[in-house]
Amino acid sequence: MAKLTKLDDIVALCKRRGFIYQSSEIYGGLASCYDYGPLGSELKRNVRNAWWKAIVQMRDDVVGLDCSILMHPMVWKASGHADKFADLVTVCKKCSTRTRVDHLQDKPDPAGDLGEFGLGNKLCPSCGTAGQFNKPMAFKLMFETQMGANADDTMTLWLRPETAQGIFANFRNVLDSSRVKVPFGIAQIGKSFRNEVTTKAFIFRTREFEQAEIEFFCKPGSDEAWYNHWKEFRFNWYLNLGMKKENLRFRDHATDELAHYAKACVDVEYKFPFGSGDWQELEGIANRQDFDLRQHQRGMRTMNDWYEKRDVTKLQLKEEAEDWVKGPLSYFDDESKERFVPYVIEPSAGIDRSCLAFLVDAYDEDEVNGEPRSVLRFHPALAPIKAAIFPLVKKDGLPEIARKIYDELKPCFATFYDEKGAIGRRYRRQDEAGTPYCMTIDGQSKEDQTVTVRERDSLTQERINIAQLKNFLRDKMGL
Ligand code: GAP
Repeated sequence: MAKLTKLDDIVALCKRRGFIYQSSEIYGGLASCYDYGPLGSELKRNVRNAWWKAIVQMRDDVVGLDCSILMHPMVWKASGHADKFADLVTVCKKCSTRTRVDHLQDKPDPAGDLGEFGLGNKLCPSCGTAGQFNKPMAFKLMFETQMGANADDTMTLWLRPETAQGIFANFRNVLDSSRVKVPFGIAQIGKSFRNEVTTKAFIFRTREFEQAEIEFFCKPGSDEAWYNHWKEFRFNWYLNLGMKKENLRFRDHATDELAHYAKACVDVEYKFPFGSGDWQELEGIANRQDFDLRQHQRGMRTMNDWYEKRDVTKLQLKEEAEDWVKGPLSYFDDESKERFVPYVIEPSAGIDRSCLAFLVDAYDEDEVNGEPRSVLRFHPALAPIKAAIFPLVKKDGLPEIARKIYDELKPCFATFYDEKGAIGRRYRRQDEAGTPYCMTIDGQSKEDQTVTVRERDSLTQERINIAQLKNFLRDKMGL
């Protein structure tokens, strides 16, 4: 049998321990959709909470938002998604598999025939046939759905492909209803949907996924300084949660790779263990200038036409009037007495992709007492379970003492009680769950009110007084 890759090992551990399962598995599974199990849903919640805490709770200049997934179709017309959110794809003449052109190219080459696309001698990733591709064409990525119960007022909507547009659409609301002043940001975490041509590597690229996005509004001219600020802030967020520096890097987008509205864009990349072992995007940080707010001002001017036609695909966005700077999405700065359309710095991360990176980064194999073990060395803030409590045996009053400790710790930390099986196996289960501390109650506990605390990473064991446990764990984990 072929040697399993590190990713295979992680996928197996995720299934075995209840982190991540294939969606609809009892019916054979649904491609590229995944469910988070008891440990996975805790991990994902911890990633979300760590992001929200760092961005919204700890900063004075960012507020939160939680928008609906379904939005007015004009949002997607104005943003450009209705017309342009598509991948260039080609179909293999031999096996009919659809492949993204940019996944076949050595380097992006945006126009021309097959030769110019650089596909002339490329192999189909599905059947291996070389150079038998149809002419590339655009493949729309947004999922369509219908809204409305009556046949004559049914409206075609899209499931949002990013959370960002909900933020732009609420820019005025947030300005008018809270105390924010430019520079400030609006942050949102939520599900997004894209009918991806090729899904990839477990939860790396899926059709339903969760994003964590910030739109940071600033005065034109201050945008480069804020762009650099967010680059550093977001990179450090991963490092502060224990991600290894050697697995993380920046990749600046080349000028010919930038979207026409972006002044600069950088990816935070992680060294994922799949594909050719290449670095892959974990998060994108872009300087979008005033493109989005201006587009929505143009969209607002087009609204009446939409009500007449009820068809977003047939609309031309109205050209800007001369006075666009005075439009409804502009900002008046009280101090400088200037009016401007703010520039936007957008750090856009994926929650599922971050979970995968944290899983990969934490995964390790070593030996304990001559036996191999798999361990997830999660940062305590991310660990699904912070502390596990074991009575050494299921008698002599030990379970009662253990239960009491469990009841006391449970309100403070995610705590797990386990009295089944050999103690070594109980430790091993918690190592695979990534639990930083395990506590064992034994005969001595009855005499001197101490328990053994075992540390997941160093494997050291020390005896701690039961009355001191809560503070001990708090200090050790910094929680
Ligand atoms: N608003 C900008 C935006 O959506 P993006 O680069 O398309 O930018 C941002 O997406 C992040 O969302 C990516 O860096 C990635 O972490 C995550 N993401 C995007 N598509 C994804 C997919 N199909 N599956 C999982 N995560 C995805």
